[in-house]
Amino acid sequence: MLTDMSRPTIPEPVLRAARQNARTLQLLGVDFVPLRAPRAVDAAPAAPVAPAPPALSPQIEPKPGLFSSEVAPAEVRPAAAPAGAPAAAAKLPREHAAALLDELRQRYERDAPHARFVTDHHNIVFGEGDPCARLMFVGEAPGAEEDRTGRPFVGRAGQLLDKMINAMGLERGQVYIANVLKTRPPGNATPTSDECAACAPYLYEQIMIVRPEVIVTLGLPASRTLLNTMESMGALRGRWWTFRPPAALLAGAPGAQGLRPGWTVPVMPTYHPAFLLRSYTTENRQKVWADLRQAMERLGASPVRVETATMSPGEEG
Ligand code: URA
Repeated sequence: MLTDMSRPTIPEPVLRAARQNARTLQLLGVDFVPLRAPRAVDAAPAAPVAPAPPALSPQIEPKPGLFSSEVAPAEVRPAAAPAGAPAAAAKLPREHAAALLDELRQRYERDAPHARFVTDHHNIVFGEGDPCARLMFVGEAPGAEEDRTGRPFVGRAGQLLDKMINAMGLERGQVYIANVLKTRPPGNATPTSDECAACAPYLYEQIMIVRPEVIVTLGLPASRTLLNTMESMGALRGRWWTFRPPAALLAGAPGAQGLRPGWTVPVMPTYHPAFLLRSYTTENRQKVWADLRQAMERLGASPVRVETATMSPGEEG
């Protein structure tokens, strides 16, 4: 129980929602969430930022603007990039990035690289989210629900991805989500390396337009496609790697405007949420959460241990 009389009274429905949310996070293996320090009442108004995500609870509150592409608020520490890491590229204005993504989608539809392999898709699932997101997730290929709706990660794996994103103190609309393949392989087959290679240039250009500061790859096909490696998932996950777009794309693709030669993005590979659903062990959940925490730290979010009162399993709503 919170007994501090100096705290404002929190309405019971809000407390119940907060406890429920904390339990969901616990199920995910999350023992930390990002907290925001209380702001001074007379603090200067922040520079315009994208809408702040709704609070998870009065105590569990994400840092507003932290994952939007606008100027970070003063309270956010700069991302702790490893020594020697290249500075993040200047973002494109949001409308311009959105227009370039539209153009790229149209080019993808005209080129139809998926026509070279067997597919039984109904919709192209190009990608969605903030065109200037600081954090990007990359999966392998749409499943049945994604094929039906034309949106990435909306099936069961997508619901778990949403929880992972929320556990990072974010809303889905603040990140950008894409797949290597934009069309569903028959029977949800794992994409072959040829299929990945045919579609990769469009994913690379999506990345060059969004210019995320961190990419989290979900599973092996996405990790291998971005990192140009044949390493196993066990060797890849939990460590920082680097996405280097092909020099020819960097020199000539419309999405590369203003990017310097040698521009790169740090990549944190982690397990695919579909794998996590199949192998829902505490060990796997903790590994994924550890990977996501590394991504958060790189972006300047410092996870703080949740107050025991908030996370106590004894506090049933
Ligand atoms: N799995 C993926 O890799 N991508 C999706 O969009 C959905 C499931």
